[in-house]
Amino acid sequence: MARRPMIAGNWKMNKTAAEATELTQKLSFEYMKEYKSVDVLVCPPFTSLRSVRIVLGFDKSPIKLGAQDVFWEDEGAFTGAISPKMLKELGCTYCIVGHSERREFFHETDEMVNAKARALIRNNIIPIICCGESLATREAGETASYVTSQVRAALVGVTADDAQRAVIAYEPIWAIGTGRTATPEMAEETCSAIRDTLIELYGDEIAQEMRILYGGSMKPSNVKHFVPMPNIDGGLIGGAALVATDFIDLVKAYV
Ligand code: PGA
Repeated sequence: MARRPMIAGNWKMNKTAAEATELTQKLSFEYMKEYKSVDVLVCPPFTSLRSVRIVLGFDKSPIKLGAQDVFWEDEGAFTGAISPKMLKELGCTYCIVGHSERREFFHETDEMVNAKARALIRNNIIPIICCGESLATREAGETASYVTSQVRAALVGVTADDAQRAVIAYEPIWAIGTGRTATPEMAEETCSAIRDTLIELYGDEIAQEMRILYGGSMKPSNVKHFVPMPNIDGGLIGGAALVATDFIDLVKAYV
């Protein structure tokens, strides 16, 4: 079956609530022109989730709302943490986990990423599980084994039924925010290795339903090269997600 492409905006630590409202209004207005064949998702910072949700709700926008991270417990003494239950109440249907910036700056391990993914699934939020290699790993020729081991670790204890809706985002670390994209062929090669791992874990039928996104300096000028790649089902977009017209151009490329 054909997978429905997804364009997801990871706003990272950008946009105050007021700025997020403005960007969402622009996106929502543009998006009303309708690109129904693509799932469009925005992931603002926690502090802007409610403002963004209000704009999307007011405009009856089909744009979906997601978060950038979550803690794995539903409640309790975890100062500063945000639970899946809290995200659910704010209307989040997706949440990014295991982004390389979380792994690097907040020392997240594969085990933590797995705990977060499972907590999201338990709360009926779809995890977008990030994986990706450093330049050193790529140069050592270990990209596929490294990335697929991250994917396996993130999915430990996740059943086929739950995995089916999960999204994997392949983001080579050296291509994030650097302006340096992986060539579409390089990205496809790794995404195809990820698909093979999913087949091994869950069988062909489930694995063919699961979406794999590419992320790392994807922008309107290079997106067309990724669109034809058979195992790349859209993008996780950082920088270009902060400019409404650029983000919508990426959506249009997948229509
Ligand atoms: P970028 O970020 O598009 O700015 O490279 C992508 C990401 O980190 O999700």
